Amino acid sequence: MSAPKIKLNNGYEIPALGLGTYLSKEFDGYKFTKFALENGYRHIDTAYFYENEDSVGKAINEIISERKLKREDIFIVTKLWNIHHAPELVEMACRKSLKNLNLDYIDLYLMHTPIGYEYRGEDPEVLLPKNSEDELSFSDVDYLDTYKAMEKLVDLGLVRSIGVSNFNSEQITRILENCRIKPVTNQVECNTTLNQKKLIEFCKARDITITSYSPLTRPHYYEKDKSMPKPALLDERVIALGEKYGKTPGQIVLRFIYQLGTIPIPKSTNEQRIKDNINIFDFELTPEEMTLMESFHTGQRSVPFASCTKHKYFMFNIEF
Ligand SMILES: NC(=O)c1ccc[n+]([C@@H]2O[C@H](COP(=O)([O-])OP(=O)(O)OC[C@H]3O[C@@H](n4cnc5c(N)ncnc54)[C@H](OP(=O)(O)O)[C@@H]3O)[C@@H](O)[C@H]2O)c1
Repeated sequence: MSAPKIKLNNGYEIPALGLGTYLSKEFDGYKFTKFALENGYRHIDTAYFYENEDSVGKAINEIISERKLKREDIFIVTKLWNIHHAPELVEMACRKSLKNLNLDYIDLYLMHTPIGYEYRGEDPEVLLPKNSEDELSFSDVDYLDTYKAMEKLVDLGLVRSIGVSNFNSEQITRILENCRIKPVTNQVECNTTLNQKKLIEFCKARDITITSYSPLTRPHYYEKDKSMPKPALLDERVIALGEKYGKTPGQIVLRFIYQLGTIPIPKSTNEQRIKDNINIFDFELTPEEMTLMESFHTGQRSVPFASCTKHKYFMFNIEF
């Protein structure tokens, strides 16, 4: 099964479901990206911060050299990390991602968050710089200046599309009022517990897609810590819906996220689940079933960025 494509505001198309790769380091990133590409996935989500661009890129290049797919068949997303927000660092950071991936261009380059961290140079590179109180050491670079430097990457042909991640509606408005190139997506947490209906509506009205990260509400977190948001795939009503459609509870949840009008990027390092997660385009939840799925919303975040609450651009202190 493959995912349908969605037209972005710049004319490029993004596959409506992708593979998340967070914490799929080294060999895993390679093995599961390759497996996903061999099983219908055409959209892969990585990030400089995940430190797996090289293994993801190795899988992509191998698939291309084996003539199973062409470069233009694959939509690769990676992200500018928070230490590289200073405008003079943006092109260097993008070129490092391209080198890691061993690709000529990136399909979609996202600003990972609106929050900048202190940059301590390349050698050794510190992804999570801490101060003497063991708190994250921030920079106060304005994300608008970072975004303007990202626009130049489009001009240079290093990236085809740019976008943002973890931005709230006010930050999106500020980008739209000041920038030349509209973001094509805002990648945010979106799942049954935090269904983002207002942010989805807000972005849709501005022709910006929503990419949904942690679409399954991170079941591995809940398993270890019951204070984390409870994934709806454990609920007996979702299990029953799965039985009705001949689908797994995970597929029901992903179908819901897709029917909200967003692009889910589930992560899995289990071959059967990788195959299952993209197999959601042959059935449709009814309006009543969508209402049931919406009833799991509590607003609790799986990824609250709790260590960033003191930053002036902290994004989760307004409703959406
Ligand atoms: N922009 C950002 O700030 C940001 C933040 C977080 C995540 N992301 C992106 O979003 C991707 C997905 O989010 P996530 O990894 O946080 O969470 P997720 O996709 O909601 O959950 C991943 C977990 O769900 C399990 N799983 C996968 N498919 C399943 C299924 N069908 N049924 C039951 N369990 C299943 C996986 O276990 P197995 O591996 O054993 O299958 C894994 O432990 C990330 O990998 C990353 O690419 C972006």
